[in-house]
Amino acid sequence: MKKILLLGDIHANFPALKAIEKHIKPDRFDRIINTGDFTVYSTFPNETIQWFRKRKKTICIFGNTDRRVLRILNGKKLKRPRKKEKRVMYFWTSENLLPENIKYLKSLPQKADFTTGSIRIGVFHGTCDDPDEELFPDAPEARFHQLAKNSACQIHIMGHSHVPYYKIVDGVHFINPGSVGRMFDGDPRASFAILRVYSNKIAVEHFRIPYGVEKVVKGLKKNNLPHIYAKMFQVGKKLN
Ligand SMILES: [Fe+2]
Repeated sequence: MKKILLLGDIHANFPALKAIEKHIKPDRFDRIINTGDFTVYSTFPNETIQWFRKRKKTICIFGNTDRRVLRILNGKKLKRPRKKEKRVMYFWTSENLLPENIKYLKSLPQKADFTTGSIRIGVFHGTCDDPDEELFPDAPEARFHQLAKNSACQIHIMGHSHVPYYKIVDGVHFINPGSVGRMFDGDPRASFAILRVYSNKIAVEHFRIPYGVEKVVKGLKKNNLPHIYAKMFQVGKKLN
């Protein structure tokens, strides 16, 4: 049996990641997956990236927020997001990332896949077709059929929608562990999942873990960042 830790959409919320670490002991896993969006909306992007850099057996990809931070660092114009408060968060992140962590982000792929036994597992930020596609569990079944056809993977691990779910369509397992650091469903607790792959069985378990939201609020206040994000972490909802 292989035990795989599924993380994603951390959004620089290191206190949430540490709470998960305390709860499950990551070193006991065969693999640690991160579906991307390490950065933006909280003030701990360096701590978050370093947590992955110092670990072995990780499979990480970048997400749309990471891609935009790298765009700024490459001196390119940032068209989106348009909202002023959001842009403040992106520029703050790009100004505060340490060189070794920028280098790490730049080294990451947009998607990844690996095999466990005879099972091929794909890691995507959005979907296997589009890293920016938000695939919600209530998306039309036809879309899941298409995605099942468009990839050779039997398991798709995806992020981006921040909605935890597990669906099997045409024998393909679609798993979203939810967001470690920025949940939108009104429950501010950190979300993650554990995948167990046996020789002929796949099992998925989702978890929600409370963490010290006040540490995130303190970090935002200390850096004079838009108040709306402190509120967002406190209530676990998208506010803008
Ligand atoms: Fe995200």
